[in-house]
Amino acid sequence: MNRLHTFIWLVVVLLSWGCSPGGKSPVIGVSQCSNDIWRDKLNEELRVAGGFYGVQVQFTSADDDSEVQMEQIRAFVRSGVDLLIVSPNQTQSITAAVEEAFDAGIPVILFDRKINSDKYTAFMGADNTELGRVMGHYVADYLNGKGRVVEIMGLEGSSPAIERHQGFLEALQEYPGMQLVDSRYGGWVKEGGSAAMRQWQEEGLAFDAVFGQNDRMARGAWEVAGDRVPYFGVDALPGLGNGIEDVLNGVLVATYLYPTQGDRLMELAMDILNGSPFERENRLESALVDRQNARMMLMQEQEVTRQRENMNQMNSRLDATLKEVDTQRLVLILVIALAVVALLVGVLAYWSYLRIQELHRKLEESTEAKLSFFTQVSHEFRTPLTLISGPLEKVLASPLAPDQRKSLEIASRNADILRRFVGSILDFRKMESGKMPPHFTRFDLSAAVREWLGGFSEAAGGRELVLDLPSECMIEADMRMLERILYNLVSNSLKHTREDGRITVKLRADGTRALLEVEDDGEGIPADKLPLIFNEFYQAGTGAGTGIGLALVRGFVHLHKGDVKAESELGKGTRMLVRLPLAHPGEEIHDSVDAESYTESFEPLHAEEDSTQAEALERVSESESAGPSVLIVDDNKDIRDFVASVLRKDYRVLAASNGKEALEKALRELPDLVVSDIMMPVMDGLELCRKLKAETATSHIPVILLTAKSLDEQRAEGYDSGADAYIAKPFSEKVLLSRVSNLLRSRESLKAHYLETGGSIQSSAREDDFLGKMRRIIREHLAEPELSVEWLGEQMGLSRVQLFRKVKALTGYSPVEVIRITRLKEARNLLQSSDKSVSEVAYAVGFSSPSYFSKCYKELFGTLPAER
Ligand code: FRU
Repeated sequence: MNRLHTFIWLVVVLLSWGCSPGGKSPVIGVSQCSNDIWRDKLNEELRVAGGFYGVQVQFTSADDDSEVQMEQIRAFVRSGVDLLIVSPNQTQSITAAVEEAFDAGIPVILFDRKINSDKYTAFMGADNTELGRVMGHYVADYLNGKGRVVEIMGLEGSSPAIERHQGFLEALQEYPGMQLVDSRYGGWVKEGGSAAMRQWQEEGLAFDAVFGQNDRMARGAWEVAGDRVPYFGVDALPGLGNGIEDVLNGVLVATYLYPTQGDRLMELAMDILNGSPFERENRLESALVDRQNARMMLMQEQEVTRQRENMNQMNSRLDATLKEVDTQRLVLILVIALAVVALLVGVLAYWSYLRIQELHRKLEESTEAKLSFFTQVSHEFRTPLTLISGPLEKVLASPLAPDQRKSLEIASRNADILRRFVGSILDFRKMESGKMPPHFTRFDLSAAVREWLGGFSEAAGGRELVLDLPSECMIEADMRMLERILYNLVSNSLKHTREDGRITVKLRADGTRALLEVEDDGEGIPADKLPLIFNEFYQAGTGAGTGIGLALVRGFVHLHKGDVKAESELGKGTRMLVRLPLAHPGEEIHDSVDAESYTESFEPLHAEEDSTQAEALERVSESESAGPSVLIVDDNKDIRDFVASVLRKDYRVLAASNGKEALEKALRELPDLVVSDIMMPVMDGLELCRKLKAETATSHIPVILLTAKSLDEQRAEGYDSGADAYIAKPFSEKVLLSRVSNLLRSRESLKAHYLETGGSIQSSAREDDFLGKMRRIIREHLAEPELSVEWLGEQMGLSRVQLFRKVKALTGYSPVEVIRITRLKEARNLLQSSDKSVSEVAYAVGFSSPSYFSKCYKELFGTLPAER
């Protein structure tokens, strides 16, 4: 999970890096007072230069309205621009807004017009006073020092209007013949110039020249009055209807170049932004334009415009290229991210692979360790086992008492089981290390299977063994290995099939292969366990087998270049399928079976294998001896036989091969004690114990759990199920006997206690409840002579026999006796606490004859009722 988070984080970081243009570009706000061609030119120059420096330039125009401009400046401040360029509409009214911006820490450059404050960062513009002065001299010279001049001023309150007027007036005053006869405001617009001219005409004012503070206003005046007088202007912009062309076509006599120079303005802005040194007051040089230089000016301007357009084009191409680069960068980042993903996935996969390898190695190591341990142990066991089996055989061959024979047969059979297990391990090792090549002969597998399984039908006990074989099936194979394969498969099925179950062995040949199937209708194997059953040491279910048999099957099948698989359905059964090639071309086919190369585990199948439950049950003679009865429950007949042989002397022995069978028997027979194994098919010992303790009829029966598992937690589990004692295998005869007799004895003492306490035994709450309930019912119906054992059994939910056995086991008395004792005790109470006569008391407690009452009373208490 953590790895995933880190990875996502990495991708996000990479992508955001890929998408960001590499830092935020500065924003410059340009607040223009007017919207006209001069401002357009300036704005265009700023835009081009801004593009060059990679800054964002935002423009506003106030359309000659100071209120609007103040608001626009404040909006720029709010939006957090990095620098402000302001052309203040009017000196006074804009001052406050500029000061606010400045105070807010935003650098402010005033351009072309001024404010009434020092709170600005820098100023750039032409010297308007000087401009007015130059124009004054030019007009005076043009009129040869003598004439009347009118002036159309810009916007009232704007600094160029004031300064140009100032300079113009100063110059004129140097000429005694010159006179400024009137000055009117034209608001910098053409209409303003026309309006001024119209007013002068209306007034009938006489003048010899018109000075417009800009070309537009001069032209406006010209459009009203025509060529009657010479006109002079300011700005000298190129383009039709603008200053330079108007000089060329004679509308204006001269104009003055009022420079825009947006590039220099932007340069200054960048210096300020970058913290480079800069001049606070920046004068823009300027020049007068008249007929003599107008054409050149125009050409120059056109050239500059052309260059600007070129630059613009280059800029947009650069923009496009940058965008492309950006896209490419994004693609590159994505590719890198994908490569990183692929790398991570690869690393992860490799890491997982190594882990799995490691686990496999460990598993193999542990299996190997187990195997070599067992191999070693097996070798160690072989000699002692031979030395047990041999002498036993010898003794068994001589005449013996039946009991002794039985015990020795058990020992001999179990020594054989151990020897076979040891042999299996050794064979498995041999096979695994390649030291057991198949010894091929050619034989009829069908006949062989029939022969091998002939002896097995006995071993199958109550189970039905169905053979479905073809008349003949010739095969090239190692006969002993195939015998072992079949033996192990059938043994495995036997272990997992109920006593009334069925095992089917089927053989088919399909031309090139033999198909051998062993199918049972046992408990089945869970789907997740199925692939594991052929692994060595794997044990399915309730501990049956050693986990070597099926591994050996797989090994032998593979040695024959065949395959084996298992199919199973829980509760329905299991089917093992073995496929073997019928022929082995290229292999040497021998004439006879080679027995020598195998370990002694290869005994013929019909040698007596696990004898069956049924057989075993027969063997445990369920003697009808008079002593207490003990029910022995174990799926292993040898254990059953052994336990029975230990207990038979003193107890009546009953037997069952699993929990279910035992429960049925216990309910029927109500034994005095149960000795049960824990791990058994169908119903295990813990469940049996729980069920016995839950049934009213059997809840009092002590249960001893007998098991090979001796871990503490399993012991606790045993007690949790209600077991009264727990004996771990291997156990000694003495331990078993003393545990059984102790438990039965404590029952006896409880019985004695019953009598003393007047009917209460302290066995368990459940038994107390049982007896309490019974006593209550008896007492409530004492007077009724028809209070019978059948009736009482019905009330207690037990049959007559069950009631008898349970009450006898718990109290030592029969139900009839318990009823009588209860009546007599009640009689004694009545006699001691009332004035009733003996016969009255006898009738009151349900006796129909006072003399019989007296007899019974004397028997129980030793005194006659009349003696009180
Ligand atoms: C443009 C303009 C010019 C003039 C200047 C004075 O808006 O009116 O024509 O020279 O402003 O600031």
